[in-house]
Amino acid sequence: MTLSTDTNLSKAVQVLKNAQRICILTGAGISAESGIPTFRDEQSGLWKSFRAEDLASIDAFNRDPKLVWSWYQWRRAEVKDKSPNPAHHALAKWQQHSVKADKPSQQLSLITQNVDDLHEQAGSSATHLHGELWKNHCSDCGMPYIAHIDTGSTELVECDACGGYVRPSIVWFGEMLPQRAWQVAQQSADNCDVFMSIGTSSIVYPAAGLAQVAKQNGATVIEINPHPTDSGLVDIQIPYPAGQALPALINQLGL
Ligand code: OAD
Repeated sequence: MTLSTDTNLSKAVQVLKNAQRICILTGAGISAESGIPTFRDEQSGLWKSFRAEDLASIDAFNRDPKLVWSWYQWRRAEVKDKSPNPAHHALAKWQQHSVKADKPSQQLSLITQNVDDLHEQAGSSATHLHGELWKNHCSDCGMPYIAHIDTGSTELVECDACGGYVRPSIVWFGEMLPQRAWQVAQQSADNCDVFMSIGTSSIVYPAAGLAQVAKQNGATVIEINPHPTDSGLVDIQIPYPAGQALPALINQLGL
């Protein structure tokens, strides 16, 4: 069976055609086909011996700010020339269609755990649960740092106001999610008819709990992931790469 004749894809299309409120949660897998390694892929090059989980924490930054800053500068250099792939473009087309329709029949919320800006580059508006790679703030006084930072340099940058070290505005392990973004995500998961989980391992909370909330409230849960997760929550699995599955899906939705 090919993707276009996959019965689960057809089931998803039927459910989505009748849905009024759709909540979409994306993870690192949606950017994989743009050439950005997923969070739990083994790291490459200089960083091969480190686990991302051990670097993305406030403890790691306090212990060795230069190491953590250098890692983010390396990640920024890796991501800076990457472009949205057909999955990002398909979601943007869908979102734009739902906004443009004369009588909007569908409300589509796009929530992402990704810190890259590929959804925005494709033309989507997304709620970022885990922060944004290109933003920075002071680790001491919290003031946003808006001056340009050269991705080629690994030198620590100091805050203009207090001299503290500037850090990426990313949610690290042990930190709270941005309040407003989390509220938006919860509301949209609470009220949706269909919850779509795309390219996420669904193991990092609280984001992973959104599918549970949606399911408890009667939503159908659809997952797009070539390696289906075993969350036990999914009603319809589409076990294909997002860059193939999403264009096929919106094509069958007639968009
Ligand atoms: P992970 O790296 O944990 O999972 C990526 C998922 O994408 C896996 O389940 C892959 O099977 C799937 N995948 C790979 N290629 C794909 C493709 N082409 N299409 C669709 N799916 C594909 O990434 P996340 O679930 O996003 O948080 O990780 C969640 C959070 O863990 C991250 O946001 C990060 C980390 O802690 C913070 O940094 C706060």
